[in-house]
Amino acid sequence: VEDCHATAQHYDWGAGAEIRVETALRTAGSRDQVELSVDEIGALDQFHVGGVKATQELAQMLAPSLHMRVLDVGSGLGGPARYLAQKFGCHVTGIDITEAYCRLASVLSERLGLHGQVEFRHGNAVQLPFSDNSFDAVWTQHASMNISDKRKFYREIARVLKRGGRFAMYDVALLGEGPILFPVPWAREVGESHLATAAQMQTTILQSGFSRVDWNEITETALQSLQSAIADIQAAGPRRLGLHLLLGSEFLDMLRNFLANLEQRRCGVFRGVFVRAT
Ligand SMILES: C[S@@+](CC[C@H](N)C(=O)[O-])C[C@H]1O[C@@H](n2cnc3c(N)ncnc32)[C@H](O)[C@@H]1O
Repeated sequence: VEDCHATAQHYDWGAGAEIRVETALRTAGSRDQVELSVDEIGALDQFHVGGVKATQELAQMLAPSLHMRVLDVGSGLGGPARYLAQKFGCHVTGIDITEAYCRLASVLSERLGLHGQVEFRHGNAVQLPFSDNSFDAVWTQHASMNISDKRKFYREIARVLKRGGRFAMYDVALLGEGPILFPVPWAREVGESHLATAAQMQTTILQSGFSRVDWNEITETALQSLQSAIADIQAAGPRRLGLHLLLGSEFLDMLRNFLANLEQRRCGVFRGVFVRAT
């Protein structure tokens, strides 16, 4: 429980994320028009390295079909959930430990005209408030790094997923060339970060009742996209709708450290698809 409190505090910096985002939104697009473009909102609501492109690639690997029920664990501001719902016509439920993010995810979905197809609940990934076999597919991006009990995390995902259903993940893992440099976008200090090695992560997933469909390291791609995101911010300043609204003024240092950690192979980025064994 302490873990979760610290995590929510990290993501909702100064308990002010909601007000900062709502203020920025009032000046973005027009008042009640659905004029927020995916590009404009993507720097904020695709909260992982690689942005919407990383989501598109993982989505192609998962390829949910029409009317499927998909769960997004650690759904943040809901950009990935909205992308899946819009592109594939599935219904997506997001769950997140940061309450302000759940409310913002709903506000954004309403504004973008997708509120019928996505819903967001406040809750903990290691204690999912859903019954067994309730989803056709499960998705998670960049949430496991805050979760110390990985066994519980993947077991809960297996429990709520139907047999034969797919689990798609996109995460950061330790590579071992030295300790992580802090702060990073998911943690201000070592005690808030819970990275596993890629091998540990895979083993835990397989032991939770999954078989592997696909697994690859995409550190190089991630590194390049982070480099260009940092260069953009250095050239033009933070985007109107950017991560500083969530993480506060330290966000650029966090991105720079993340990049250094990838360059020095302290951590890497991995993508995988698994199927729940029948
Ligand atoms: C880096 S953000 C990624 C958000 C989203 N998946 C995306 O890619 O846009 C990590 C998210 O995981 C959530 N999270 C961390 N630990 C969690 C837990 N134990 N249960 C549910 N959500 C959690 C955080 O609140 C945060 O919204």
